[in-house]
Amino acid sequence: MFRHTSDLQFEAKPEKPDALYAMKLQELIGGAFGEMTVTMQYLFQGWNCRMEGKYKDLIMDIATEEIGHVEMIATMVGRLLEGAPDDVTAEAVKEPAVAAVVGGMNPQQAIVGGGGALPVDSAGTPWNGKYIVASGNLMADFRANVAAESQGRLQTARLYHMTDDPGVKAMLQFNLARDTVHQNEWLAAIEQLQEDGLEGPVAPDDLFEEENQAHARTHWHLSDGGEADQGPWASGQAPDGRHSFEYMADPAALGGKASAPAPRPHQYVTSRTDASGGPHVPGQARGVAGRIKDTLQ
Ligand SMILES: [Fe+2]
Ligand SMILES: [Fe+2]
Repeated sequence: MFRHTSDLQFEAKPEKPDALYAMKLQELIGGAFGEMTVTMQYLFQGWNCRMEGKYKDLIMDIATEEIGHVEMIATMVGRLLEGAPDDVTAEAVKEPAVAAVVGGMNPQQAIVGGGGALPVDSAGTPWNGKYIVASGNLMADFRANVAAESQGRLQTARLYHMTDDPGVKAMLQFNLARDTVHQNEWLAAIEQLQEDGLEGPVAPDDLFEEENQAHARTHWHLSDGGEADQGPWASGQAPDGRHSFEYMADPAALGGKASAPAPRPHQYVTSRTDASGGPHVPGQARGVAGRIKDTLQ
């Protein structure tokens, strides 16, 4: 059961409307690393968590907080759009002052949202459920959570420098702080999973005997740049404690030619051979004879 309270988690009051900034702020609502993504990511991770206790409770607490962040930023967007013209004619846009206000406005915020926030990013792209990661493997998921909070904080920091509005800045200072806490919490949870013996540093913690062991420690030098051997990933102990890295300066291909199978006639693929292995005859799929041949195949 979820229960809603009408108070915002933190104040979301701009000093004055700014339709252009409202569109920019949409990134933090419906962007790939926005609040809708972390909300749904953590909710599904929590609902799918197969272990009652501290991990599930951590996930559900933060998930529920993120719903409140969607609410705060959506409220802020609505207030930034206050008074934004929704009936601007081409003539009005010629006025420099009006053009400045409407110039960067997302017209859908007026037409579809009636002056409110939308579940879209700053370019108007709809939020997408494929943005979220919820696999049931807490190590793999918590790493995705660190990545999401990192990208989210990065974008919040960039948006922080794009406004002088003290009300907007105050809200973003809160968001930056929560993104800091959440990054630290997921990093701590990753450590805790290992200390509790639930997961190892490599996910999933299995198949190390069966995987191709000759290739479980090598860096393949495959680009022009020649300095990748100068990091700790190229030699010495790997973080998993099982392997020591090795730098392959001149790796050779291990497989044969990457050739695709011969095409079927109705795929109309340019080829010298057909699926029977015989020479490809252009237009053979056409005509009665071709159709009979195809049917028999
Ligand atoms: Fe958040
Ligand atoms: Fe967060």
